[in-house]
Amino acid sequence: MEANPTGTRKPNVEASPSANDAAQANGPAKPDVLITEDLKFWYGKMRALSGISLNIPQHEVMAIIGPSGCGKSTYLRCLNRMNDLIPSARVEGRVIFDGENIYARNVDPVQMRRRIGMVFQKPNPFPKSIYDNVAYGPKVNGYRGSMDDLVEHSLRQAALWDEVKDDLKKSGLDLSGGQQQRLCIARALAVEPDVILMDEPCSALDPIATTRIEDLIRELRESYTIVIVTHNMQQAARVSDRTAFFMIDEQSSGSLVEVDETQRLFTTPSDQRTEDYITGRFG
Ligand SMILES: Nc1ncnc2c1ncn2[C@@H]1O[C@H](COP(=O)(O)OP(=O)(O)O)[C@@H](O)[C@H]1O
Ligand SMILES: [Mg+2]
Repeated sequence: MEANPTGTRKPNVEASPSANDAAQANGPAKPDVLITEDLKFWYGKMRALSGISLNIPQHEVMAIIGPSGCGKSTYLRCLNRMNDLIPSARVEGRVIFDGENIYARNVDPVQMRRRIGMVFQKPNPFPKSIYDNVAYGPKVNGYRGSMDDLVEHSLRQAALWDEVKDDLKKSGLDLSGGQQQRLCIARALAVEPDVILMDEPCSALDPIATTRIEDLIRELRESYTIVIVTHNMQQAARVSDRTAFFMIDEQSSGSLVEVDETQRLFTTPSDQRTEDYITGRFG
């Protein structure tokens, strides 16, 4: 198989019979929602990302895997400018969303983050009621429809409604860890984003709560594009359509080794380093 040094999507992948529909060569190509072009990132003098180019197709789940410290979270945070607040941080390259570089001067990061939402590793509900957690974003954005309906819809989408519908006034902090994470997903969904970024969203959860979130991620991709960082390769294999493998390069910067349809990356990777990683030879 041909190496893919640029890390961009290969144009004519041949789908194996077991490959899922996302990567079939003869299906209609999905448009890319996020296009990263030669993205470089520094924390002070330390270059954490070296020229990442990666296309993220619409209504797919893209998993980012790789050893600890290889820049997965940094990359994810670049996709909605969550790194902006870090003093000494510097970005080069482009992240194109909806035809526009999100790092362009005229882009309002707050508006942009409404469309590219984020769910963090540790569930972080506001110290407010379940209802207010979900209603907060829409309220700030001046949502004019029925708030009750929107809250219910978002909680249903996050597979939490049935568990909380009689307790909407209860504090979000009184929920279990798994419920809190689904509440944070409902909160992200309530502002009707296009993309949801998730940084190891299950790492603080028990196996049952993890399964619920994984099921949810698969459902959500019908309507959203999801980028999920995970250190758990089984999780990447279970939930994602496409997987990007990151590693530290010779200059100690995070770089993209390979991106491919998930099934293919885990069975017939094109780069030896990917193979070594997925077979547990390092990392
Ligand atoms: N806020 C920060 N300031 C300085 N260095 C950081 C910061 N966050 C992460 N790093 C460094 O950047 C590199 C990549 O980190 P990170 O993106 O968190 O990797 P991963 O998510 O793959 O474990 C690591 O060397 C880490 O120590
Ligand atoms: Mg991380």
